[in-house]
Amino acid sequence: LQADLLSAIDAATSLDALEAVRVGALGKSGSVTALLKTLGGMSPDERQVQGPLLNGLREAVTAALAARKAVLETAALDAKLANEKLDMTLPVADAPRGSIHPISQVMDELAEIFADLGFAVAGGPEIEDDWHNFTALNIPPEHPARAMHDTFYFPDQAGSEKRMLLRTHTSPVQIRTMMTQEPPIRIIAPGRVYRSDSDATHTPMFHQVEGLVIDRDITMGHLRWTLETMVKAFFEVDDVTLQFRPSFFPFTEPSVEIDVGCSWSGGTLSIGGSESWLEILGGGMVHPRVIANCGLDPEVWQGFAFGVGIDRLAMLKYGMNDLRAFFDADLRWLNHYGFRA
Ligand code: PHE
Repeated sequence: LQADLLSAIDAATSLDALEAVRVGALGKSGSVTALLKTLGGMSPDERQVQGPLLNGLREAVTAALAARKAVLETAALDAKLANEKLDMTLPVADAPRGSIHPISQVMDELAEIFADLGFAVAGGPEIEDDWHNFTALNIPPEHPARAMHDTFYFPDQAGSEKRMLLRTHTSPVQIRTMMTQEPPIRIIAPGRVYRSDSDATHTPMFHQVEGLVIDRDITMGHLRWTLETMVKAFFEVDDVTLQFRPSFFPFTEPSVEIDVGCSWSGGTLSIGGSESWLEILGGGMVHPRVIANCGLDPEVWQGFAFGVGIDRLAMLKYGMNDLRAFFDADLRWLNHYGFRA
């Protein structure tokens, strides 16, 4: 029987044929199975002789089946490889693709421009507490500046400095940075901010970039040079005039609002010249009380800070006119302004 089975295994030319041989030998009613079953009816002496013989038969058949199976499988794979062809020159099927959003694009560009000036990127939570968003920035409770911020508050812990809110500006990142880093500090902090306000030029969520420099002997001149360098690089113009107008922020003293000089040509406004002024930034020298609130000595450390609306910068750079379209996720709008994958 063993010789018959082994030659049947060798003669099998397909995996299916081999499987038929296996079932015929080792299956439920296979020939080897039937012989093994006879062991139960034998006397102990007989079984002592026949047992090892029959088990040896089963093992020999099992091993031969496995060896033949490996051979047939390799052959099947070789045949498949020889038949299948893959044309590497065929064009790839077109799949829908996304695109970089103008706001991400502007954030990336600003991060690069400021990296060249030695600024690191810092971040902070969008769900902020009252102390970081207001009090530490010299905006105590009852300060009128709080009313101007149209804050989204969380309902718990009213009247407490731990009261949570959606940050109304990126300025709390100034506080978080000064509290955790040793000066000299040079950071920008891009991110989302929230105010309860919505029309063609305001959305309840918008984007700012904060800038903060803390060092010895920092002056308003450093602020002007930094922002001029930034505006020139961002709008890709050789020359730009910035107009500093006195303003008020509780966390800077003196405070300025900063306009960029523009000129009209063929009905469109472009950056450069001084025919017209567009307000793009708020800034100033960091208030000594803010520096002290962060545990630094304002006699030793001074600095400047500024805040820019990113959405506003993107609208100016790409000639977009409706702020709300930024948040519609409409690919047609993005493509119209040249944002394609
Ligand atoms: N946080 C201010 C705002 O949102 C902008 C600002 C930042 C002003 C830093 C001065 C310094 O309007």
